Amino acid sequence: MERFAIDFGNERTTVAVEPIGVFGKGVQSLGLKPPISEVVVISDETVSGLYGGKILQSLSDAGFRSSSLVFPPGEKSKSLRVVERLYDELASRRFDRAGLVVALGGGVVSDVAGFVAATWKRGVRFAICATTLEAAIDASIGGKTGVNLPSGKNLVGVFHQPVHVGIDPHCLHSLDMRDIRAGLAESVKHALITSEEFFNWHEANVQAVMELQEGAIEELIIRNMKIKAEIVSRDARERTGERIILNLGHTIGHAIENLCSYELRHGECVALGLIAACRLSNKMDILDGRVTDRVVQILQLIGLPTKLELRIDADQIVEVIRQDKKAVGGASQFVLLEGIGNLVIRQDVTDAAIRDAFCSLC
Ligand SMILES: NC(=O)c1ccc[n+]([C@@H]2O[C@H](COP(=O)([O-])OP(=O)(O)OC[C@H]3O[C@@H](n4cnc5c(N)ncnc54)[C@H](O)[C@@H]3O)[C@@H](O)[C@H]2O)c1
Ligand SMILES: [Zn+2]
Repeated sequence: MERFAIDFGNERTTVAVEPIGVFGKGVQSLGLKPPISEVVVISDETVSGLYGGKILQSLSDAGFRSSSLVFPPGEKSKSLRVVERLYDELASRRFDRAGLVVALGGGVVSDVAGFVAATWKRGVRFAICATTLEAAIDASIGGKTGVNLPSGKNLVGVFHQPVHVGIDPHCLHSLDMRDIRAGLAESVKHALITSEEFFNWHEANVQAVMELQEGAIEELIIRNMKIKAEIVSRDARERTGERIILNLGHTIGHAIENLCSYELRHGECVALGLIAACRLSNKMDILDGRVTDRVVQILQLIGLPTKLELRIDADQIVEVIRQDKKAVGGASQFVLLEGIGNLVIRQDVTDAAIRDAFCSLC
């Protein structure tokens, strides 16, 4: 089991890969000041049913007074309506500024609970117990919290670093295989961002990972957490531009996610977005087509979609991308590939090229 810390200047997140039964002790060992007055565990109904009792027990074993709050599972809960309901609950419990919010669940729960913690009484501390692969290797690291609006994904949010992130790989055994596959899309993204060696590792180990073999899954989680930690700690608030590389595959991916009314998982949209980013790079003559073939192959091996089965209009994709919050002065910034581990940011991607790349998925 592994523990490490990520420094964000004046904030710090500890990360632990360890059993859920010691989550409370992990928080206690941080010795937070002022001491935690009480803990509220926010979760979705599914995860709460599976692990809510265990985490409350571990918090109680560590001497914390705790209670829980739940909302329905799924991306549709990442809304201001759910946030408002949670505020009402906190108000009725008189949850004070010395309290700790714990997000127990996947990326939806950590985004929502983190946003609630960041804004409740101008900000209380929060911690994450990640229960999906997506959350373990991506969403739990870096402090991005927020919700969707009908007009777009993640449009409202704030940076708020968790004080602690725990992940028990055993929790992944109850996950749907579809969610394991979806989480792996982010790992392929991290490999494309960082190194050919990590990409090769995926080609060699993806079967063992999907069987949730202990060694392989732990190595996958730790390597991904460290990659994400390295990138976000250099640019905690996405100001210097270094963090934008994490957006690889997410510009078209988010647009698809938005337009499919969340019928596809986030990771499935990322898989499609990664292929579209490769094809855009091919079109702009900066990437060898053989790299794109390898990307398609690894995604197929994982069992992720490489073709879009739903009908989405290419013009709508372009429209959504224009509204993308990362657009600067009307020009969308695209993270493209010159090779594995070799990225470039371009603002000169035309609507026609976006349309072509998207249509190659249909
Ligand atoms: N903040 C960030 O930096 C960041 C990064 C990546 C993704 N995200 C966000 O994360 C979300 C996707 O995350 P996700 O895929 O974890 O979604 P999720 O939280 O909706 O979880 C997927 C499903 O799995 C269920 N589940 C969770 N853990 C389980 C377990 N151990 N066993 C059985 N079922 C379990 C949930 O109830 C849910 O139905 C998206 O909204 C995305 O935008 C945020
Ligand atoms: Zn993502």
